[in-house]
Amino acid sequence: MSDLLQQIAAAADHIKKEWPETPQVGIILGSGLGNLAGDITDSIEIPYEEIPYFPSSSVEGHRGKLILGKMNGRPVVAMAGRFHYYEGHSMQQVTFPVRVMKALGVRTLLLSNAAGGMNAQFKVGDLMIIRDHINLQPEHPLRGTNIAELGPRFPDMSEPYSKVLIAKAKEIAGANNIPVHTGVYVGVQGPTFETRAEYKFMHVIGGDAVGMSTVPEVIVGVHSGLQIFAMSVITDLGIREEENVITHEEVLEAANAAEPKLTLIFRELISAL
Ligand code: HPA
Repeated sequence: MSDLLQQIAAAADHIKKEWPETPQVGIILGSGLGNLAGDITDSIEIPYEEIPYFPSSSVEGHRGKLILGKMNGRPVVAMAGRFHYYEGHSMQQVTFPVRVMKALGVRTLLLSNAAGGMNAQFKVGDLMIIRDHINLQPEHPLRGTNIAELGPRFPDMSEPYSKVLIAKAKEIAGANNIPVHTGVYVGVQGPTFETRAEYKFMHVIGGDAVGMSTVPEVIVGVHSGLQIFAMSVITDLGIREEENVITHEEVLEAANAAEPKLTLIFRELISAL
């Protein structure tokens, strides 16, 4: 067995010993968006440090634990705190939890993130359903020998984000009077926010929002055959011409303020699965 398969099995075995159910949905929550995990009932929490081969998370605003339990009666596994490439983790480490979720039995992956808006229609606090992405990150999570047990060598990326889930999420948002945009997420390395020229460039190439996460997990989710839904909270507007300094605090604040809307959509999406 390859090292990676062995590591996935060791992590999944550890988790199963603590929580023997089969999670149906995996949830990865972004900066300032961790509160959804508080809606999980009958839950147990496992700090990342206790899970074999899990990296540990370092960024302020990211809590590092796995939460397993029920959301609207469905068994779920949620990551409060994700791993980012800019922290120094390899892409294999960043995406390891997605591999473990798949090994536990997860079929659907929901992700959230804080992102910078580049579409002129967007305002701080808006929600954007990700309908596609552009990967500008410098390393690919599938680089290296392909492990056939995990997925194909050349995965198709024509529909990484489930059209069915996008339609359902729009329906939920509409029914609850929550305005949502749909757009393209550009994944970058960070940890700097972008220069004005970079925000403009990313808009010109087709991006509506930019962030430092999500794309690696989505790629590995596709490789693993998972059904995927992802949504961004727009926390800053890079393309504004006026003075426009972006700080992590402001990103967290905007994410926290928009969180209840995002949480409602995720919660109802999970019930509708
Ligand atoms: N750029 C990159 N990542 C981000 C941003 C941004 O403007 N906002 C939140 N995460």
